[in-house]
Amino acid sequence: MSKAYVEAESQLMKRFETYLSQNLPQAQSFHPVYENALCDMLLAGGKRFRPMLLLSIVDAYEPMLYDGAMSVAMALEMFHTYSLIHDDLPAMDDAPLRRGHKTLHIRYDEVTAILVGDALNTDAFLYIAKAPLREDIKIKLITLLAQNGGSQGMVLGQAIDCYFENKSLNLEQIKILHTHKTAKLIAASLQMGAVIVGLDSKVQKALYDFGIDLGLLFQIQDDIIDEMQTSKEAGKPTGNDGNKNSFVNLLGLEKALQEADMLAKDLQRRFETFDEKLRIALQPLMTTYLYRHH
Ligand code: IPE
Ligand code: IPE
Ligand code: MG
Ligand code: MG
Ligand code: MG
Repeated sequence: MSKAYVEAESQLMKRFETYLSQNLPQAQSFHPVYENALCDMLLAGGKRFRPMLLLSIVDAYEPMLYDGAMSVAMALEMFHTYSLIHDDLPAMDDAPLRRGHKTLHIRYDEVTAILVGDALNTDAFLYIAKAPLREDIKIKLITLLAQNGGSQGMVLGQAIDCYFENKSLNLEQIKILHTHKTAKLIAASLQMGAVIVGLDSKVQKALYDFGIDLGLLFQIQDDIIDEMQTSKEAGKPTGNDGNKNSFVNLLGLEKALQEADMLAKDLQRRFETFDEKLRIALQPLMTTYLYRHH
C-alpha cells in the first residue's frame, strides 16, 4: 500500500480525534463527577474503527461533506462506547479494565456507569439530528443506527450472549449472536457513510453485506484476542470468555484462526470487486484489520 494512503488515513484519524475532544457531550451541574464520567471512556481511546469506516467513504466521495459527517462519526463512537460501558458492568462481563483504563463502575460506581451509558446512547441520536446535513439523509441515518444498534441489532446480540452464558450454542447460532452484537453496527457504519455521500441503494446494500462479514470477522478476531493477548496488550481483561459462546470455545483456537483466515480471504476477494474510489478509501483499514489476528 502506498505511503500516501496510510498518511491520508492517519490524517482522518487525527481530525476525528480533534473533533471528538472539542465536541464532547457537556452536562454542567453541581454533580461532582457526572460530566467527567460522561467523557472518560470516549477520551480513553480505542481503535475508532466504526467512525473511520464512515469517514473514509465520505472523504473519498465528497470531502465537502466531511465536516457534516464528523458529527455522525462521533455518534457512532458514542453509541459503541455506550455498548462497551454496559458490556463491562458487573451484571454483564464484570470487567475492571477498558481501553487501558479503569471501567466507570470501578472508577466511580455502578449507577454512574449505567447512566453514562444511557446518556451516550441517547445523545448519539442528538449528534446525528444536529449534523449539518440534509434532513432526509439524517432521518435515514437515525433509522440505520436504531435498526442496527437497538432491539433488533446490538442489544439482541448482547441479550443472546448473556442469556446463553454457560449454555452452548451451535455454530449457526453463534454466527447469529456475533452478527447482532458486533457486525450490524459495523455494517451500518459503512452504509451510513454511503448514505451521506448519496451512493445508490445497490452500492449501499453491497457495503452493508460486506460490513456484516467484516464485523463477523472482527468479533472472531476479538474472541481470538481474548485467548491470545495479555490484558495489557488488549487494554481490557483477557482470558475472560471461558463461559461464553465464543468462536474459540466452539472450534478451538486453531480452527478459529483458520475460520478467520478464510473469512478474511473471502472479504479480500469481494473487496477487489468494489469500484476504485471505494477501494482506495477503505484499503488502509482493510490492511490493518483483515489479518489482525496474526
Ligand atoms: C470491542 O470493540 C467490542 C467488540 C464489538 C468486539 P472494539 O474492538 O472496536 O473496541 P475499541 O473501540 O477499539 O475499544
Ligand atoms: C461485546 O463483546 C460487544 C458489544 C456489543 C459491546 P465482548 O464482550 O466480546 O467485547 P469485549 O471483549 O469486552 O470488548
Ligand atoms: Mg460481552
Ligand atoms: Mg466484554
Ligand atoms: Mg471480547
